[in-house]
Amino acid sequence: MQKFEDFLLENLPVSKSIHPTYEDALHKMLEAGGKRFRPALLLGVVNSYNPLLLDGARHAAYAIELLHTYSLIHDDLPAMDNSPLRRGKPTLHVEFDEVTAILVGDALNTYSFEVLSNAPFSDYTRVALIRELASNGGLNGMVLGQAIDCYFENKPLKLEDIKILHTNKTAKLIAASLKMGAIIVGREDLAQKLYEFGIKLGLLFQIQDDILDVTQSSAEAGKLTNNDEAKNSFVTILGLEKAMSEANILADELTIELDSFDESLRSELSPLLTRYINRHKNSGT
Ligand code: IPE
Ligand code: IPE
Ligand code: MG
Ligand code: MG
Ligand code: MG
Repeated sequence: MQKFEDFLLENLPVSKSIHPTYEDALHKMLEAGGKRFRPALLLGVVNSYNPLLLDGARHAAYAIELLHTYSLIHDDLPAMDNSPLRRGKPTLHVEFDEVTAILVGDALNTYSFEVLSNAPFSDYTRVALIRELASNGGLNGMVLGQAIDCYFENKPLKLEDIKILHTNKTAKLIAASLKMGAIIVGREDLAQKLYEFGIKLGLLFQIQDDILDVTQSSAEAGKLTNNDEAKNSFVTILGLEKAMSEANILADELTIELDSFDESLRSELSPLLTRYINRHKNSGT
């Protein structure tokens, strides 16, 4: 069975043009790696219910990673978080230029839906997957979260609004990854439960990311850290200690909820999720 990473590298966006750097820039951030957390969630759900669908599911996992990678390229732009480092490599606006970074982000965004539209599933499943990725990654999901995140720089929000910000910015795409796995295996009865679990998991993921921003060096994180001072990050607003306790509460709840999954899903997702659910505990604090 082909590994997701090999699949991704073999299916990098194909395009040959007269532009001297466009293709190189398109590939750079995808090749740079990253945790591939969202693909692992989708593929984990599919593997636990119908491993025969894994080959097709890789297309959907790839589509999510394409959209996520675009979101990182834009997140790092000077107008947003202004970061020179991502996945251990110079960001595209530093290595190439800002125009290239903006356009490569745009290209990966639309290419993710092209990949989904060609995934080897029924039309019904393909449309359901496209709808899920668009609604969670777009105007009422990740993009809305990023808009709130940037607009409210240096304007502290209430905790409930911070949760709305991070639910949109990060949690919805993580929740969609699990739900898209359920759609592929035709378990729409489980889709909502997995989505709600994913929202909580995504919120924890972002709190951990905010904690790592102050506990890791840029070299350790592979991206610029100590970069959240103006942000409504959980650490900036609550302080490190309270952010850690918020993370611990969510981690405990998720551990209990994971136990309520059926045996095949639990045994498939437990190794991955236990590692991520507890990731803030090894942050050197
Ligand atoms: C970073 O996502 C942005 C957040 C939503 C916190 P990841 O931490 O998954 O980044 P990669 O994919 O591993 O680079
Ligand atoms: C960005 O959150 C989340 C995205 C939607 C890309 P952050 O700005 O905290 O992500 P990092 O820390 O730069 O990876
Ligand atoms: Mg950001
Ligand atoms: Mg950022
Ligand atoms: Mg961050």
